[in-house]
Amino acid sequence: MALEERPDAKLDRAVIFLGPPGSGKGTQAKELAKAYGIPHLSTGDMLREHVSKGTTLGLQAKPIMERGELVPDSLVLKMVAERIERPDCSHGFMFDGFPRTVTQAKYLGELLKQHGFHQPLVLHLVIGSSVLMRRLTGRRTCKVGGEIYNIYERPPKVEGICDNDGGELFQRPDDREDVIRERLHAYEKQTSPLVQYYRRLGFLHDIDADKSFEEVKQRMFESLAGIGGVR
Ligand code: AP5
Repeated sequence: MALEERPDAKLDRAVIFLGPPGSGKGTQAKELAKAYGIPHLSTGDMLREHVSKGTTLGLQAKPIMERGELVPDSLVLKMVAERIERPDCSHGFMFDGFPRTVTQAKYLGELLKQHGFHQPLVLHLVIGSSVLMRRLTGRRTCKVGGEIYNIYERPPKVEGICDNDGGELFQRPDDREDVIRERLHAYEKQTSPLVQYYRRLGFLHDIDADKSFEEVKQRMFESLAGIGGVR
């Protein structure tokens, strides 16, 4: 039976999805988290929620996100530390978009130790930058359930409407070409050093992300099974 169909699959781990904007972190993290029954923790989604609620953190983060820059480590670390305290994280979690700097990665290493977790498994989505602009400008997301579509590669059955819950689809404000360029620049400068950081520690698994949705997912399941996290 395929791993994703196994209701007893367990993963007492932190899994990190590392890759540039548009590489498919959110798409795959949602599916894998569902399959393993552990939370999908997207720092981008958490920050967008703060922005939409107008919290103090949201007000600080909004202009930074609109420019496509990274929100300061201090703000993100506090938010993450609070989130993984919740009981639903006791059997592991999947980080999408975190860590994004070496400072964040070191802090996460300490947090995992404190919570009694093994070191993380890092799924590194490898993809050339030429496909990312098309993926990001074509992305549409459901306002209700957060399902991710693509008008070119994975369109909904009815334009503008989510197949799952009928929710309205929207385009993220940071998916404008000028902001995407800034986000890709921030990735190269501040986040890509994490590839070497985690590779040296032996935690990194390269995944070719320029394949079909299904092929990428299957390769990720194989990597997770390979560490013996599934029992
Ligand atoms: P965040 O929300 O994390 O955005 P991101 O890293 O830029 O990544 P994306 O969500 O854009 O892309 P993705 O890789 O998830 O791709 P997806 O699966 O959607 O962060 C937003 C902002 O928040 C940041 O700029 C920053 O300001 C702030 N922030 C967040 N975390 C932070 C942190 N830790 N520290 C500091 N600041 C932080 O896919 C993209 C599209 O491609 C979709 O349309 C999808 O359908 C399509 N697609 C996916 N897979 C495939 C495939 N195999 N084939 C064809 N199309 C595909």
